[in-house]
Amino acid sequence: MSGKLITFEGPEGSGKSTQIRLLAEKLGARGIDVSVTREPGGTATGEAIRNILQHDAVNEPLSMRAELLLFAASRAQLVEQVIQPTLDRGEWVLCDRFIDSTMAYQGFARGMNIAALDRINEFAIGGRTPDLTILLDLDIEQGFERVRCRYAEAGGAADRFECEARDFHHRVREGYHQLAAREPERFRIVDAASCIENVADDIWNHVQVML
Ligand SMILES: Nc1ncnc2c1ncn2[C@@H]1O[C@H](COP(=O)(O)OP(=O)(O)OP(=O)(O)O)[C@@H](O)[C@H]1O
Ligand SMILES: [Mg+2]
Repeated sequence: MSGKLITFEGPEGSGKSTQIRLLAEKLGARGIDVSVTREPGGTATGEAIRNILQHDAVNEPLSMRAELLLFAASRAQLVEQVIQPTLDRGEWVLCDRFIDSTMAYQGFARGMNIAALDRINEFAIGGRTPDLTILLDLDIEQGFERVRCRYAEAGGAADRFECEARDFHHRVREGYHQLAAREPERFRIVDAASCIENVADDIWNHVQVML
């Protein structure tokens, strides 16, 4: 039997990586084989693309269309090389960002054509839409405060997207809400403002019904 694909979406610092780790542990404790991956990245090709996307690695401003297609390329490689084979083995896959990040960031925040992005996403994933998408919803300022704390503790530098203006991130958050409204059967909106354990419990309630 095919495994399930669960994607995590949400603005910067909303707790995606934290919650994916916790959910993977819980599923593992239930005897479910689970793989964790991330976008852009998750393959050698994807990680090379991630480097370009996040830090202007080639020292040249990236055009919006090139940015979009690099995300799509990373995603296509990830689906073909990792996600689909893993699901075919019956393992579950938890993916940190996926198609909806393209819609929220390039579509709603950058203003690119939504219908075109839908087609490019569809082409990249070949129809393998997520079984469930957890949208971690958090106030933008709170998210940035968390990211600041994380950098203070663990190091790291702001990426290209974190450097965008606050307006941009408000459009990302609002865009996510529109995406969730468009596909309510796939999305679950989780309030990411409460403590890590409460958020994890809410997520678990949504995932449990899939077991
Ligand atoms: N519910 C929470 N309450 C308080 N702090 C949290 C909560 N969830 C996560 N954090 C902390 O906030 C920071 C950001 O969390 P995390 O890295 O999981 O977010 P993210 O969505 O993956 O961020 P990014 O978009 O940068 O990848 C981390 O330092 C994490 O420990
Ligand atoms: Mg993260």
